Amino acid sequence: CGIVGYIGKRDSQAILLEGLKKLEYRGYDSAGIAVFTGDGLQLKKSKGRLAVLEDILRGDPLAGSVGIGHTRWATHGKPSDVNSHPHTDNSAQFSVVHNGIVENYLELKDELIEKGHVFVSETDTEVISHLIAEQYTGNIVEAVQRAVKCMRGAFALGVLCSYEPEKLVAVRFASPLVIGVGDGENFIGSDIPAILEHTRNVFILNDGEMAVLTREGVELMTTEGDNISKEITRVEWDLVTAEKAGFDHFMLKEIYEQPKAYRDTMRGRIGEDGKSVLLKELQMSDEYVKSIRKVQIVACGTAYHAGLVGKTVIESLVRIPVENDVASEYRYRSPIITPDTLVIVVSQSGETADTLAALREAQRNGARVLAITNVVGSSVAREADDVLVTWAGPEIAVASTKAYTSQLIAFYLLGLHMTRVLGTQETSQEEEMITALQQLPEQVEEILQQAAVLKQVAESIAHHRSLFFIGRGVDYAVAQEGSLKLKEISYIHSEAYAAGELKHGTLALIEDDVPVIALVTQEALYEKTLSNIKEVKARGAHVLSIVNSGFELEAAKSVDEVFAIPKTLPLLTPALAVVPLQLLSYYASLALGHDVDKPRNLAKSVTVE
Ligand code: G6P
Repeated sequence: CGIVGYIGKRDSQAILLEGLKKLEYRGYDSAGIAVFTGDGLQLKKSKGRLAVLEDILRGDPLAGSVGIGHTRWATHGKPSDVNSHPHTDNSAQFSVVHNGIVENYLELKDELIEKGHVFVSETDTEVISHLIAEQYTGNIVEAVQRAVKCMRGAFALGVLCSYEPEKLVAVRFASPLVIGVGDGENFIGSDIPAILEHTRNVFILNDGEMAVLTREGVELMTTEGDNISKEITRVEWDLVTAEKAGFDHFMLKEIYEQPKAYRDTMRGRIGEDGKSVLLKELQMSDEYVKSIRKVQIVACGTAYHAGLVGKTVIESLVRIPVENDVASEYRYRSPIITPDTLVIVVSQSGETADTLAALREAQRNGARVLAITNVVGSSVAREADDVLVTWAGPEIAVASTKAYTSQLIAFYLLGLHMTRVLGTQETSQEEEMITALQQLPEQVEEILQQAAVLKQVAESIAHHRSLFFIGRGVDYAVAQEGSLKLKEISYIHSEAYAAGELKHGTLALIEDDVPVIALVTQEALYEKTLSNIKEVKARGAHVLSIVNSGFELEAAKSVDEVFAIPKTLPLLTPALAVVPLQLLSYYASLALGHDVDKPRNLAKSVTVE
């Protein structure tokens, strides 16, 4: 979501709308603003792109010089007018825009309902406005501090209170927020682009910090109420760079957002003791889970590749057979769908026509459908019986990165959820996996620190016409995604092969100097894969291998280059091993001068069959 706020002497509506326009890349399913007008605190909000709100405001503007605005990427509650921000309390004296997730909002909501609060939306944000109203005893800053103390999760807030119309309060708790400092006016923004047109002087808030803005100045403090002082940061970026948070391309930004996407996708789904996974959002009963005899995973493109890993995860954890299908093939192969078949559709956008058609086919045949999607309120999310949302946030680059890895996390969580219900693993194994899962974000960060090495490798492969990716088990699934990524954006031909299958097929294509990227992360298969590496080396291949840390020296004896990923459980390696492959394809595309974010002939979401 995107947040913007203004306090000054100018008309706030135009400034808020301009700011929101710059943030539409963060989400665009609904938008709204709240402004102090001559008639008090007034809200206007609507489902749909920002243009819809602009039309409404053109006919009926909100005049005033203090306001907050929001562009939404639905989290709790589908896109709708009532679910749009800003939200308010029953007295309509408090108004809140929010970015992030309040994990314990249902508990808070129940407590507030008991105290007589009436809710109109399904959002966690509405709970915040009621909570602040409940805590208000004459000082908005203290009320916000008290409210924040009750909230768990990741959030950034902009708050207005009509009893104190000369103040705009902003809070940051694990969701970004910047304060723009002007002359007789001040701003808040979830990102720099929202305010860059007006000021280059910003305070960047850290977690647990808040700001109280007036026309004349900005007071900074912690959410505990201790005053703090900060240096002003001078932003030198132009607008285009600012939209990408300083990265050259959205794809690179999204690759770097993966640790956050992993954390967000896990948030609230692992018990507080860190020992079990509980997917409360699933409607399916434990009885139903016990009745599942077969799983079919259906998707397209990158989402299909996530499903390939999903198959191994479910089969090894839960021991239920899993089939993978490309959605455009599924319907036409007369799949055997029975009421005890769980069909999992995977779709970043939730709008892919082939996937939607497969979902309907499955339901027509009596199967229950669970959707893993990144877009709340999308067609797939609306029609599926159960929805497991990946909290990757909007993905702009056509080549999918953080959506894919969040889908992997969703599969791990789903596998663990089913394991708990069915009791198919020892508790200690379940716990070990949950611990390892939570270490992944940091481990991805470690990989990202080595991007420069991968840039060099990418530059050396960029002039080749063809290359191969090989691996066994989940490494083969990752090889397929790595190969697709490279093809999509660098236009270099590549093929992914199950490492042991190369000798039965296209080994003849391995000639002197052909690059082969070998994934060797499955300890039980090390020796087998090393034999396959020897086969390609003997034919002149130049081999880069992706291995677990600790295995570098051994691997180096057989290959030309080694890239090590941090050690994790065998089932979890895809969530790490794919990251160097994403970076390789990014840098290869860059070296070739292609349009990384908008590769030729590809669309982000394909709504034709
Ligand atoms: C398009 C995109 C692919 C994507 C596929 C499935 O073809 O170019 O990158 O993987 O659609 O998209 P979905 O939104 O269903 O995950």
